[in-house]
Amino acid sequence: MPSANKFEQDLKQTQKEALLTIEQTSELEGLEQIRIKYLGRRGIITSLLKSLKDLPEKERPALGKLSNQIKSQVEQVLIKRIKEQKEQEAVGGKGEGFFDYTLPGRKGWEGRAHPLTQINEKIVKIFYGMGFEVAKGPDVETDYYNFSALNFPLDHPARDMQDTFYLKGDLLLRTHTSPVQVRVFEKRKPPIRIITPGRCYRNEAINARSFCTFLQVEGFYVDTDVTFADLKGVLSAFVWELFGKDVALRFRASFFPFTEPSAEVDISCVICGGKGCSVCKHRGWLEILGAGMIDPEVFKTVGYDPEKYSGYAFGMGVDRIAMLKYQIDDIRLFYEDDLKFLRQF
Ligand code: PHE
Repeated sequence: MPSANKFEQDLKQTQKEALLTIEQTSELEGLEQIRIKYLGRRGIITSLLKSLKDLPEKERPALGKLSNQIKSQVEQVLIKRIKEQKEQEAVGGKGEGFFDYTLPGRKGWEGRAHPLTQINEKIVKIFYGMGFEVAKGPDVETDYYNFSALNFPLDHPARDMQDTFYLKGDLLLRTHTSPVQVRVFEKRKPPIRIITPGRCYRNEAINARSFCTFLQVEGFYVDTDVTFADLKGVLSAFVWELFGKDVALRFRASFFPFTEPSAEVDISCVICGGKGCSVCKHRGWLEILGAGMIDPEVFKTVGYDPEKYSGYAFGMGVDRIAMLKYQIDDIRLFYEDDLKFLRQF
């Protein structure tokens, strides 16, 4: 009968040997050989376990427990080693810190301007290229600049054309960018050629076509001998630059208290080319701005001699132009900060 001592010695020797060779082996092939040598059907550890039954009965439980512990330890160390080896081979056998330069890069976050800002900048740039300076005015205006100085008589229905958000006292949120005309005229003498982009506010029912706030770009030119032909020339050049040469313009007679004569300007539908579609409501034309020759009453109010000076003014909705340019059918999308929408621009 084999002695318990000898068995324990062999077991511990085998454990030591197995763990050492696992540590020293790096090839998967070599590790598989080790598995067979120690844990295979006729492996050393397997055989030792089988010979347990030949030991004296009272020694068996303790040595059986020890044998099982050693067997599972060797198994686990071997499995871990095989796993590590497989991972290393997967990154090209280069080991820890290996960087695969052939992997496609991860795309980083990239900021960009809001679509309205992009169109606004485009519009301003076109007029800047035609010799217009850029000016700014406040969003919170007084009744005087927003209405009275622009020849909106008190209690005249013209004031109802633009539903106004009134603030405390005489203050209100500007309903258009035209008050900047007055502010500039008060400070300067002609010739003046200015473009003034800015936010406007109107207390209107919100729907796909109108929102409570929007961007406008106002332009005006005052000098001796400015004519309606100059206005047509500048607006045509602008439209052709922004939408392309094959877009037609149409000037329709209209009314604004601060211009005379006044016009609304349409362009041939940029979607259907004028044939008629749902965007132009089968009219073939799209309205993009209001314009006219500055009313002599406005000149009188700011102290310009209406006999000496003449000028034109125009105001366009940036949101509307952006909707046409990008073919967006709901203005509210510009104000919802939905990244899925904004990332398209
Ligand atoms: N301020 C006008 C509006 O908001 C547009 C306009 C500007 C008309 C300049 C004529 C001249 O409706």
